[in-house]
Amino acid sequence: MSILDINKALEVGRISYGTVLINTDPQIRKGKRNEYMVGDFMTPDGTVPFKIWEERTFALVRDKGIGIYDVEVEGSDFNGLYLTVRRITEAQEEWKPHDFLPAVSRGELRQFWRKLRSKLSLFGVSEKAWQILEQILADPEIDGRFVIEGAAIYYHDNKIGGLMNHTGKMLNILVAILENLPTLQESADLLFLGIALHDIGKVFEYRDLGLGEYWYANHRVRGIELLAKYKEAIFNAYDERFYRQMQSIISGHHGDFGDRPTSVAAAIVHYIDSLESQVTGLIESQEANNGRFRYADWGWLEAIDLSKKESPGSDDKENLSE
Ligand SMILES: [Fe+2]
Ligand SMILES: [Fe+2]
Repeated sequence: MSILDINKALEVGRISYGTVLINTDPQIRKGKRNEYMVGDFMTPDGTVPFKIWEERTFALVRDKGIGIYDVEVEGSDFNGLYLTVRRITEAQEEWKPHDFLPAVSRGELRQFWRKLRSKLSLFGVSEKAWQILEQILADPEIDGRFVIEGAAIYYHDNKIGGLMNHTGKMLNILVAILENLPTLQESADLLFLGIALHDIGKVFEYRDLGLGEYWYANHRVRGIELLAKYKEAIFNAYDERFYRQMQSIISGHHGDFGDRPTSVAAAIVHYIDSLESQVTGLIESQEANNGRFRYADWGWLEAIDLSKKESPGSDDKENLSE
């Protein structure tokens, strides 16, 4: 069975068959007569709400929870479009959760990072710093997940590859800052490595855009723990001061929403992180709403004109399993 085509399946009254991912625990609600289940199916084309009215049909999902299922659904409309599930069974074929998640094209990401490398080298980032980054990203504990994990579950860059995309966009902002303030180029390696690794702990906090098992030891804590394995390498390449400043960047990069910054480097990374994630989150909200939309505590925002060109963000899933 192939992945459910949600655009066709949502046509009211149409019966469709396909495979879906349930990535967050569905809820059981009390109806007038019986209990029923509501939840979301994920596919690469997006997330779609579903309802299961019969207990004998939802029992499997209630017992098994998050997982991959084959479904027979009917497009339905009541206060918005959703899918009524007529049959649901465990998926027959071998699928991986990230087969169902929206993704940033891996080819575009690679190209983006290749360009960054040459741009950053013009503003003082050394080869030595790239080698340390490559050494850390090859750590078996990371298991290649820097290129897979999202930057967030709900908010910004919540796509496969989103973490690497968000980190790359921050490095692009760093290029502009190093150009604007040339005296900062003295600390180019520190800011580069600090940004490249500020969210690395998300490979442990999240799992395929859902929460990881040990999510409560947050990504700042896990990032510092990972860095400790490379303490000697960083001491040898730089010195203790450099290493301690990197720790302060990872622990302080959330500004007022976490441990407060304790170094100028941490404050700069916090500002770059906020700028990148806020602007990306704002544009993603507009795209999800089509026109005027409510945002943060500000009420209605009028949309800005956007070109049709897709940002490194949508599409070719083919390269993902490279
Ligand atoms: Fe973070
Ligand atoms: Fe971040």
